Amino acid sequence: MKIKLQSRSHERTGHFPRNRRSFSPEYAIDIRRFSYDGKKDVLRDIRFTVEAGAFIGIVGHTGSGKSTLLSLLMNFYPIQEGGIQIGGIPISRISRGIRAGLIGFVQQDPFIFADTVANNIRMELPLDQDAIVEAAQQAQLHEMVLGLPHGYDTMLTEQGKSLSAGQRQLLSLARTLARKLRILLLDEATANINSHTEALVWKSLMTLRSKVTLIAIAHRLGTVKDADQLYVLHHGHVQQSGTHEELMAREGLYKHMYELQHQGEFQLGWNQGYSPAR
Ligand SMILES: Nc1ncnc2c1ncn2[C@@H]1O[C@H](COP(=O)(O)OP(=O)(O)OP(=O)(O)O)[C@@H](O)[C@H]1O
Ligand SMILES: [Mg+2]
Repeated sequence: MKIKLQSRSHERTGHFPRNRRSFSPEYAIDIRRFSYDGKKDVLRDIRFTVEAGAFIGIVGHTGSGKSTLLSLLMNFYPIQEGGIQIGGIPISRISRGIRAGLIGFVQQDPFIFADTVANNIRMELPLDQDAIVEAAQQAQLHEMVLGLPHGYDTMLTEQGKSLSAGQRQLLSLARTLARKLRILLLDEATANINSHTEALVWKSLMTLRSKVTLIAIAHRLGTVKDADQLYVLHHGHVQQSGTHEELMAREGLYKHMYELQHQGEFQLGWNQGYSPAR
């Protein structure tokens, strides 16, 4: 199946206008109130800026509003009160094509087309095989693809059911990386991947550090520990923010969540250092 091209040519290429290089894509986020149904507020009073090239981690319990926040950074929904700007331009006034050439979004459950692996990475871009392989290597997908019956020419079934959830995520990541965008939004992009592969993915993502703006939601807090700034969402607002070290130095939600996730390791350390009398 060929993917239909519905956008205009400049939108297809995904290139930002001529002044793209001089454009500094920093985010200015000022969400005073956001609601899906106009009744129940899902986000409120979220105000922070993200400098171009920063690495930001978004954490918080399930349902706290993390994915909603990222979808607003993509301008998927109008904000009732407040707004988001990129490089001083309200996001709602940046055309869809320009946004697509600027921001990549790896969602929790990515969409896979009934087409070859290569075309699922390439999508509408005129990428050659080398560019596709490079993106797949960066996303730690390459080895898996080599193991498929026809490698990059293997046909995937509708919705990618022939791939595991983790493989779908890596494919979506490769697709996004192939675009060499300046802003990457990752929504639990490595949640279904084993911890060894996850560590490799993050290692290659970290080679992009300071070259791209990276805003990542992470269930496993360890993956965003090195972020320049972490935001801890709780019931739709920012309960805490700071670096990992700053947040661990305070009693609060982050420290609590981190300790819960690492309880096993702490327990081990404690047992190793101390042997209670029998
Ligand atoms: N498309 C939608 N329409 C209506 N309500 C939604 C929609 N998406 C999310 N919500 C609601 O908004 C709130 C925040 O959800 P969101 O998906 O942003 O949380 P999250 O922090 O990403 O959770 P998780 O860790 O489980 O992914 C929840 O109460 C959820 O039910
Ligand atoms: Mg979510």
